Amino acid sequence: MLQVRVWRGAERGEFQLFEVPRLESQTVLDVVTYIQRRCDPTLSYRFACRVGVCGSCAMSVNGQSRWTCRTHVSKVAADDRLEIAPLRNLPVVKDLVTDMREFFDKWARARGRFQGDKRRTDDFARVSPESRERRLVDASIECIGCGVCYSACDVVTWNPDYLGPAALNRAWTLVNDVRDVAADQRLMAVAGDAGCHACHTHMNCTERCPKQISPTAGIAGLKRLVLDAAVKGRL
Ligand code: SF4
Ligand code: SF4
Ligand code: FES
Repeated sequence: MLQVRVWRGAERGEFQLFEVPRLESQTVLDVVTYIQRRCDPTLSYRFACRVGVCGSCAMSVNGQSRWTCRTHVSKVAADDRLEIAPLRNLPVVKDLVTDMREFFDKWARARGRFQGDKRRTDDFARVSPESRERRLVDASIECIGCGVCYSACDVVTWNPDYLGPAALNRAWTLVNDVRDVAADQRLMAVAGDAGCHACHTHMNCTERCPKQISPTAGIAGLKRLVLDAAVKGRL
């Protein structure tokens, strides 16, 4: 049997202990689902795809932020104990559900929306897969918006205004997109005290990202581009 402590409540609450049968190839999301279906139907949690695509199932598992649908119990509960809590750095709605609004509001603040200048009658842009810009985009574009990096970032904890690794990674993806025409406005948006220069480069985001993205590298790239644009008088 697994001994599973699960956070119950909102900002105030406590851990509740459940016993869950241990099964082969069981994921942490399977454990949470078992508890909700067999032990307590009032347990709130969020998931959709169960296969690592939607990004909605992230939680804190034994103190570390993880996507729970792709995290096998055997990897994280060697002693048959699990502690499952909501993601850090976000308001808790109930139990394991966090309010993601400020996370995605920060994507908007970082101008995380593609802005092109082509019409639907124009030809497709051709971007060589071998080009430097395309390789930089390819390395950062697979973000699923899970919030794991944001939850793992201590600078977000210290400075809740900080845009955070996911929004900055999105900005980095777009400034490298040769079809986008708002690069300087985006650099302006990420240049302030709560932007890329607040990053302390301690890599928690990169170590925890389940999609092997390195927001740390992207943020370092943004710092260089902001400096370059400022020196050239564009900001
Ligand atoms: S590298 Fe920067 S964004 Fe990533 S966890 Fe550290 S401070 Fe946060
Ligand atoms: S950068 Fe990685 S950890 Fe952060 S939201 Fe995207 S996929 Fe999740
Ligand atoms: S449920 Fe979709 S990523 Fe886990």
